Amino acid sequence: MTRIAVQTPSRSYDVLVERGLLRSAGTVLRDIIPAESRVFVVTSPRIRRVWGKSLQKSFIRVGRKLEILEMPDGERSKELAQLEKLASRLMKRGAERQSVIVALGGGVVGDVGGFLASIFMRGVPVVQIPTTLLAQVDSAIGGKTGVNLASGKNLLGTFHQPLAVLADPDVLATLPEREYRSGLFEAMKYGVIRNPAIFEMMESKREALLGRDRALLEKLIADCVRVKAEVVSADEREGGERRILNFGHTVGHALETETSYRKLLHGEAVGWGMVAAALIGYALDKTDSLTAQRIISTVFAYGPLPRFKAQGGQVLKRLLADKKTVGGVPHFVLATSMGKVEVVKDVPQRVVLQAIEEMKNLAWARV
Ligand SMILES: NC(=O)c1ccc[n+]([C@@H]2O[C@H](COP(=O)([O-])OP(=O)(O)OC[C@H]3O[C@@H](n4cnc5c(N)ncnc54)[C@H](O)[C@@H]3O)[C@@H](O)[C@H]2O)c1
Ligand SMILES: [Zn+2]
Repeated sequence: MTRIAVQTPSRSYDVLVERGLLRSAGTVLRDIIPAESRVFVVTSPRIRRVWGKSLQKSFIRVGRKLEILEMPDGERSKELAQLEKLASRLMKRGAERQSVIVALGGGVVGDVGGFLASIFMRGVPVVQIPTTLLAQVDSAIGGKTGVNLASGKNLLGTFHQPLAVLADPDVLATLPEREYRSGLFEAMKYGVIRNPAIFEMMESKREALLGRDRALLEKLIADCVRVKAEVVSADEREGGERRILNFGHTVGHALETETSYRKLLHGEAVGWGMVAAALIGYALDKTDSLTAQRIISTVFAYGPLPRFKAQGGQVLKRLLADKKTVGGVPHFVLATSMGKVEVVKDVPQRVVLQAIEEMKNLAWARV
């Protein structure tokens, strides 16, 4: 088992990565969740159907009981009303301050479950058991929780570090193909920002990764988690260092909003965003041509990416309205070489516009 420590001022905890971990979750968590705590699992019907039994059995094996609360799947369930519903059900079932919440699911369940835990009775512990690749390498680690408002994504939220994160590559076997590939783009990001070996693995092991080779996936997840854990440990609240995690996300978010979250999955938007960052970096002489080409061709190697028709001007407007935009100037994370990035504040608008136009040509050519 790979054990990766996350150390933040509010809590230190481990991210555990191992094939088959879900089946031994009860045993692993016996030392982490106090014996007297009742355990409430927040999950979706779909995830419960495929993985609920395994988790439940692993608890029964160590003589503990789990209670399951379902919430609907999908980004639309990431809303405040969902928290109220779940909290009322927790009360009805007699949850108390010593209870522990386990979030079993993708980023949506993780964000809602984590948020719920952070405010229920002023805060109860949460364990994250991510079931999508994106959640395993990214959203389940670092303590960010959130729900959406009609006016934007993740506008309400808290920081609530989990007691532990259990990432089992085997649960990815049932993930729909598009969701799986979407997570691979997020994994690629870690290669560009910090660890070239991740990027090289993605370049050289494409077939095996797309085939969900379990041993390779375990390594990929552990390597990505190590980067996320390092960055979060250095900067829990995204004051500085944590910003590098936004590589590909500046244009990515703008595309997601401009296409009303209907056309692109988050990871796919990040895929496009990484292409944009490579083009912008190259135009500004920050990214050498070989690095830019490697980023672009590896993104497309894990495609196809859905094309988009968004107008450059509209995308730029969204960029300026992003909550991460500081003082009206969007920050771009740009690669200076493979594994190294720099946060750049003064990217001229025409360079962004030009990159978006170039991407649209690539989109037409590729899909
Ligand atoms: N908190 C953070 O730091 C952070 C970081 C990145 C993203 N996020 C959030 O994560 C969310 C996206 O998460 P996601 O990409 O995991 O999507 P998701 O949670 O919507 O899951 C995608 C789909 O896959 C299904 N699914 C999940 N695991 C499965 C499995 N093992 N087998 C079969 N089906 C499975 C789900 O039911 C769902 O339909 C967004 O809301 C985003 O804002 C949060
Ligand atoms: Zn992301």
